[in-house]
Amino acid sequence: MNRFRVIEFQLLQACNAGCVYCAYDQNLPEFNNWLPLEIVEKTLAEEKPEWVWFEGGEVTMTDKSKKYLLEAMEIANRFGVRNRINTNCRNIDPEWARRLADGGLQFACVSFDTLDHERLEFLRGFPEGSGTENMERLKANALSLADHGITVDLEATVTRHNLHELEALYDYAESVATGGRNILMGAQCLVATYDEVFGLYPDMVEMHEVFMRLTRKARKGRIPVRICCSPMVRCNYPELYEPHPNVIWVECTCGYDYVHVNATGEVLLCGFWDHSETIGNLNTASLRAIWETSGLRRQAMEETPGQCRGCRHWEGPERCHNSCFSIARRKTGSFSSFAYDLTVRAIADAANRRPS
Ligand SMILES: C[S@@+](CC[C@H](N)C(=O)[O-])C[C@H]1O[C@@H](n2cnc3c(N)ncnc32)[C@H](O)[C@@H]1O
Ligand code: SF4
Ligand code: SF4
Repeated sequence: MNRFRVIEFQLLQACNAGCVYCAYDQNLPEFNNWLPLEIVEKTLAEEKPEWVWFEGGEVTMTDKSKKYLLEAMEIANRFGVRNRINTNCRNIDPEWARRLADGGLQFACVSFDTLDHERLEFLRGFPEGSGTENMERLKANALSLADHGITVDLEATVTRHNLHELEALYDYAESVATGGRNILMGAQCLVATYDEVFGLYPDMVEMHEVFMRLTRKARKGRIPVRICCSPMVRCNYPELYEPHPNVIWVECTCGYDYVHVNATGEVLLCGFWDHSETIGNLNTASLRAIWETSGLRRQAMEETPGQCRGCRHWEGPERCHNSCFSIARRKTGSFSSFAYDLTVRAIADAANRRPS
């Protein structure tokens, strides 16, 4: 039985922000549903993954949700599972950072898209506070998590609006990684789940240039950069992938050793997957039964684009698996098309539709 590296639970769907690119559907009728902790407990007891990732919506948005999170983390602690949260950390003040650290939180992936307060407002759409106040609050809360011994990934979701800031974001993350703070930078590429996302996507040529400079900087720097869901596949951009401990490519593990569970108990190949295409529901079946019998998962594992057949990066530690292949499924109904080509075309189509 393959052990999961990551089980990701959305504990609630509600959020305290309105990010322009958010792939999560917060307008479902079950908006206020909370994932029952019995489901978390049963699933972790059966699977004992290496990591559990808790998130929302925004899992730290209220005291009630933070207390719920502490209870969920306590369950993970009992099974020796390591706790991570994905958060905008707007409501994690130093006191809550301490409580979360005491509750066993080891890693916080903090959304950190920009150093420009106007761009922060545009990208993340917090309902209250000025841009300057929100920027200062974000920095203070993120650093306070690190000061409590939690590893903090300051993660930018990469759009055409903040692409040119990535190097400055690396410099910032490096400058605050002092005094024993364990901080890294993250770059989360936009995923291809909905067509609207492509309107925000950077131009691929510019993206490649910036990532060349960013990875060069990290190779000489003090902290790692962790790059997720990149459409820049190894075969087209080999120079980006020159191995270095400070350049961590997190490639697609959908269907392999990572799984996402919505607050409604729905199981998806990824949190960014088309939300109508679930593979089962934990209210009615175990994760293992869903995982082993899912036709979609089997298809995702078995169908291979022509270019990828025989590629040494398809499987194994450097698993590429045709980058973010949800676009292939959505556009063609199968997984045998090359996701890179489909993504480049979708970006160009979106750029052509934009008023000049
Ligand atoms: C969905 S959020 C949930 C956790 C929390 N609310 C937050 O924003 O950090 C998790 C991460 O996904 C990123 N994200 C949201 N929509 C995305 C998209 N369409 N493509 C790529 N990443 C996305 C967010 O920026 C955030 O870093
Ligand atoms: S904070 Fe997270 S969940 Fe909320 S809208 Fe932004 S990306 Fe989506
Ligand atoms: S698995 Fe496919 S997309 Fe990935 S590097 Fe190999 S050939 Fe390229």
